Amino acid sequence: MVDYVFMQVKSILTADQFSRQDLDLILKNTARIESLLKKHKQLNILDKYILATMFFEPSTRTRLSFESAMHRLGGRVVSAVGMQFSSMAKGETLYDTLKVMESYADICAIRHPVEGASIVASKSISIPVINAGDGAGEHPTQAILDLYTISVHKDIAGKNIQIGFVGDIKYGRTIHSLIKLLSKFNASFTFISPAEIGLPEKYKKDLNQMNIKFTETNDIEALTECDVGYITRIQEERFSDHATFDQFKDLYVINKKFLKTCRKDIIIMHPLPRLNEVSTDIDSMPQAVYFKQAEYGLYSRMTLLLYVTGLLDKLDEFS
Ligand code: CP
Repeated sequence: MVDYVFMQVKSILTADQFSRQDLDLILKNTARIESLLKKHKQLNILDKYILATMFFEPSTRTRLSFESAMHRLGGRVVSAVGMQFSSMAKGETLYDTLKVMESYADICAIRHPVEGASIVASKSISIPVINAGDGAGEHPTQAILDLYTISVHKDIAGKNIQIGFVGDIKYGRTIHSLIKLLSKFNASFTFISPAEIGLPEKYKKDLNQMNIKFTETNDIEALTECDVGYITRIQEERFSDHATFDQFKDLYVINKKFLKTCRKDIIIMHPLPRLNEVSTDIDSMPQAVYFKQAEYGLYSRMTLLLYVTGLLDKLDEFS
């Protein structure tokens, strides 16, 4: 007899798919897992499951935290990393690769340079697909861990939170997903970037339709009025023109001197990896939460693996 059957096949493709109720459930269970792990180290709920991590763009945090999350849930992992090390290097299509993979695994986390690749994957195979980053599109599981990080430090269900997004807002997929989640809470946005790498029109249209307040500026001083600073790297790999990248790469640097001009209780987040935009001289300051943010990726992704398998209720077996 199979103990754990899929109650329903849920994929995670875009931050749009989460209702406020879903998010409250995910945040609650992420906090629960964070606490349970301190006592149990491992929660054997997915011991009959295999996760395939299919990463066709570089990653440290997302892949390792997904794999660690699966291990901490008692599951196993198979991995295809980099096109050059899969049979795609011999000309096999993504479709054929995924069709083969689905008979080896129960869940697929995929990162791919093409926007919409995870949606195509979910239509091609019958196991849950998790979008682990699709080009300059979205990164919904990063947004969940970002939301969790904000919820640990700020009362997101209560007073209005002012979030300042800094850097590469055009190509920053973590920002695209996070604003969709935060739109379901009481938040306002300040986008700080040169106009050339500002928020794409489609996201502005969505914010306007939802009557979400936002402002755009290229002046980093605007961050001094924010409760949260979400800093991002200028993404060299997305620029076709190197001169434009060079022009923007060191434009904004958050360092100790600048942080002194900000609100005392501001938190500084970064999805990482960072280049020079967040100085290491703030790493030990209480405002700097980016390494903790990366840690929260483990608990959040454990929750999401249980969410897609319909097994969140199994957490009740642990105390
Ligand atoms: N934040 C993030 O997606 O990091 P990686 O690219 O290392 O996975």
